[in-house]
Amino acid sequence: MHLRKLDHIGIAVPALAEARAFWEGKLGLHAKGEEDVPSQRVRVCFLPIGESKLELLEPTSPDSTIAKFLEKRGPGLHHVAFEVPDIRAALAEAKAQGIQLIDQEPRPGAANKLVAFLHPRDTGGVLTELVQPAPKA
Ligand code: CO
Repeated sequence: MHLRKLDHIGIAVPALAEARAFWEGKLGLHAKGEEDVPSQRVRVCFLPIGESKLELLEPTSPDSTIAKFLEKRGPGLHHVAFEVPDIRAALAEAKAQGIQLIDQEPRPGAANKLVAFLHPRDTGGVLTELVQPAPKA
């Protein structure tokens, strides 16, 4: 599979404002703004750092997977995301290698990108997201 770069690291947080106070106020990162991602029932905030980003994820509904994650494990590392040039090809390749897909089809993520998750059972316990960049306007 062609993983082009580490796109971002996802961190589950109960409240974006509080998390931003830490990452921006104390560690000096700068957020690019906030965005609702209805397909995942979360509100996210990206903090660029070098070639990569942190993604803070706050649940917007009690049935969001992030809400369930927070309930079970508390705030913290949630997933890693790799950029791929062709997400459908990457999913087909993962499937052919026996990796269980959470998303059979890519879905819309933040910033008009297509995203899909691989099951942590088959990825060493690391929830793994694939991200295909939005086409250039
Ligand atoms: Co993500």
